[in-house]
Amino acid sequence: MTERVVVAGAVYDGGRLLAARRSAPAELAGRWELPGGKLEPGERPEDGLVRELREELGVETEVLARIPGSWPLKPGYVLQVWTVRLVSGEPRPLEDHDALRWLGPDETGAVDWLEQDRPAVAEAARLLREH
Ligand code: CDP
Repeated sequence: MTERVVVAGAVYDGGRLLAARRSAPAELAGRWELPGGKLEPGERPEDGLVRELREELGVETEVLARIPGSWPLKPGYVLQVWTVRLVSGEPRPLEDHDALRWLGPDETGAVDWLEQDRPAVAEAARLLREH
């Protein structure tokens, strides 16, 4: 069976990382994640991520690099994460989220991340501190 990929973005701007609070489904509502979503069949991950971030946040972004790793979600789905640069627009919670926060490199522990996002968030925070 081929696993379906959920792509998510560690979105950077001004030395901070964007965190998004999920509004649905009920079991995930209130938890924080790196925004993203399911790839469409045949879609390149970088293209799918730019599309999801446009739909969910109303922004244009540039995908920078993959954060190494692949994290299991529900059966048949895996999470993969890329660092992303904000190119234009101010993120707004248009779909799936009800709050957004920009976190400095030492603030990334301030929100309750979904477990599956934590390794990538830790690496994203480490990369932020290096710059
Ligand atoms: O918007 P779309 O239906 O394409 O995807 P989604 O509902 O945002 O995400 C699909 C699944 O991936 C959900 O079950 C989320 O829990 C999971 N996900 C995650 O665990 N961590 C993320 N950073 C993004 C999505």
